[in-house]
Amino acid sequence: MDKRKIIVTSALPYANGALHLGHLVEYLQTDFWARYQRMMGHDVVYVCADDTHGTPIMIRARQEGTTPEAVIARSYEARVKEFGAFEMGFDRYGSTNCKENRILSEQIYLRLKERGLISSRPVNQLYCEHCGMFLPDRFVKGTCPRCGAPDRDGDNCSVCGATYNTTDLKDPHCAICGGTPVMRQSEQLFVELEPCRDFLKQWLPNHTDKGTADKLLEWFNEPLRGWNISRDAPYFGFKIPGYDDKYFYVWLDAPIGYMATLWAWAKERGQTLEDWWQDPKAEIYHFIGKDIVRFHCLFWPSELENAGYRTPTQVFVHGFLMVNGAKMSKSEGTFISAATYLKHLPAQALRFYYACKLNGSVDDMNLDLKDFVGRVNSDLVGKITNLASRGAQMLNKNCGGRLGAMDPESRDLLAACRAQLPELCEAYERRDFCRAMVIVREWADKANQLFDAKMPWKLVKEDPEATRAVLTGTLNLFRLMAIALKPILPAYAAKVEALFGEQPYTFADAARDLEDRAIAPYEHLAARIDPKAVEAMVAETKAQSAAKPAPKLSEKDIKKGVRQLTQAPVSTAFPEPPAETIAIDDLAKVDLRLATVLTAEPVPESDKLLRLTLDVGEAKPRTVFAGIKKHCPPETLVGTQVLMVANLAPRKMRFGVSEGMILAAQGPDGTLALLRPTAALPNGARLH
Ligand code: MSP
Ligand code: ZN
Repeated sequence: MDKRKIIVTSALPYANGALHLGHLVEYLQTDFWARYQRMMGHDVVYVCADDTHGTPIMIRARQEGTTPEAVIARSYEARVKEFGAFEMGFDRYGSTNCKENRILSEQIYLRLKERGLISSRPVNQLYCEHCGMFLPDRFVKGTCPRCGAPDRDGDNCSVCGATYNTTDLKDPHCAICGGTPVMRQSEQLFVELEPCRDFLKQWLPNHTDKGTADKLLEWFNEPLRGWNISRDAPYFGFKIPGYDDKYFYVWLDAPIGYMATLWAWAKERGQTLEDWWQDPKAEIYHFIGKDIVRFHCLFWPSELENAGYRTPTQVFVHGFLMVNGAKMSKSEGTFISAATYLKHLPAQALRFYYACKLNGSVDDMNLDLKDFVGRVNSDLVGKITNLASRGAQMLNKNCGGRLGAMDPESRDLLAACRAQLPELCEAYERRDFCRAMVIVREWADKANQLFDAKMPWKLVKEDPEATRAVLTGTLNLFRLMAIALKPILPAYAAKVEALFGEQPYTFADAARDLEDRAIAPYEHLAARIDPKAVEAMVAETKAQSAAKPAPKLSEKDIKKGVRQLTQAPVSTAFPEPPAETIAIDDLAKVDLRLATVLTAEPVPESDKLLRLTLDVGEAKPRTVFAGIKKHCPPETLVGTQVLMVANLAPRKMRFGVSEGMILAAQGPDGTLALLRPTAALPNGARLH
């Protein structure tokens, strides 16, 4: 087969929000697919980046008294760590706020202008005089023009379902300061789409799924409206060439971020965009959610086509995540962030479960939390991993850790499974990960039946060599499953490679038998999920949503605060906060919680330490070693509440692992006072 050259992207997540399990529906499936293509031996480059520009970042920076650059740098760091924890294999993860993106954005804009596709016309928009800015839709609230419900969003009403123009809202007010905006006119730039009609009509049906193309084509019964690509200062973004006070709208430079990141990646290897994006043999695939098809299937191809660039090969559209059959909800505790998930559960469990559910369609995908526990425990751990743990441990214990020749039944079964590899690969190719997982599960069922029929645990007492043959078969079957699962579970597969002392697997390795060779000691591959961990994750998410609502301020407070806020200059002119102070977000990093002391005992080997167990409102109590032996008799502590740092990295001590720290203040004479709440609150209540 010819080696393909494949460029893969996921939509660029907004730097302004925390990654959640909904986002991961997209990032994980893209990663599965990119890893699959790499394992087929193709040249794959998978790029993504933080989408950094726009009003929300600017406002957040103002509110925190810092620069947008500082805000995006901080979120970038967190993002990269979280993606790493979820085993994402980007070839490059960039940022839209980079030199390459500015250069390409200006170039594409100027080329569109040259082709006569940019026009300029006055637009009426709501302007907040307090905040000194035009208000994007999401920063306007008001009364729904249809049903009269108060406090609705700028462009749609979640009570009656109406959609409208922000300028139609009754009683509009600024969502930032609460002030009343005024209508103001300013000149805006548009990319005209009507001249792209014929191109788009032809392009759409060939480059995305039929449902998506048909839906977009419905708009072609009317003239295609131009797309506003400019925003007035103050804005965080790239300045439009030829203007002093206009910036590219974030959605203009965001998709260009795909190319910019690819370009930066290519540069590092001494290559250019000509070698990749512009190579006619290269294929370009965008994975996106159904909410952003307009940008990717209308505006983006039109821009590329008219700026002299390749258009994507295919835009893969997926649906939205549902949790327990409903929309993700903060109050139900199902709007689960990536960070919260990782505190309670292993990343590979989610990877496995999403693979079992994703089938390449645009339908929404349901994460049923009970089913999630069941699938992981019964299939990944019970059926698949158990073959390895039983097989390898038995071989190491009873057969000198050496594979022999497979028994004939295993050999037959292995051949039958291998015969299904083309079907498995085809399923991967069309993003039907669900089908691929069904195939692996069927292999596991058959391998388990064979294992149980052969009863190696009994056989070992009579015939060690026959046992070796059976276990060699079991482990070869398991190895095939690990290869098939590698796009989904890369870290897991790496451990299997180590177990068998092999090089990183590609699909070509599936054809090889593994016989007459030693294996390494078995290393733990996958753990069962405790349903309590899922409950704790949901409870924590609920608590986050309860802690969120901002305090209600009076109109006067708001105006005063906003005047202070808006008198400061925007963007890079902000001074960095002095080194001795910390931002509120730094404080928010410290997870301070109330906890009840369940037990307290002196550590005999230490004259300072007490060993405490604390109920922090989680499924399991925490153990904390505290240097307070001299100050607090243990019996006075039990049953009282203390304040603890719950997210301190666990520390291994001679006597055990300390999973947090309790807070105390020390006076000038060395007296120690534990910090306690003034009213009893539930364990786990957080610093507010
Ligand atoms: N920044 C834009 C994309 C720019 S691409 C040039 C954006 N960002 S986002 O953070 O809101 O979403 C990133 C991706 O995650 C989008 O493809 C979006 O559809 C997807 N999802 C966000 N929430 C989702 C769910 N709840 N479920 C499934 N996918 C979701 O849009
Ligand atoms: Zn305002």
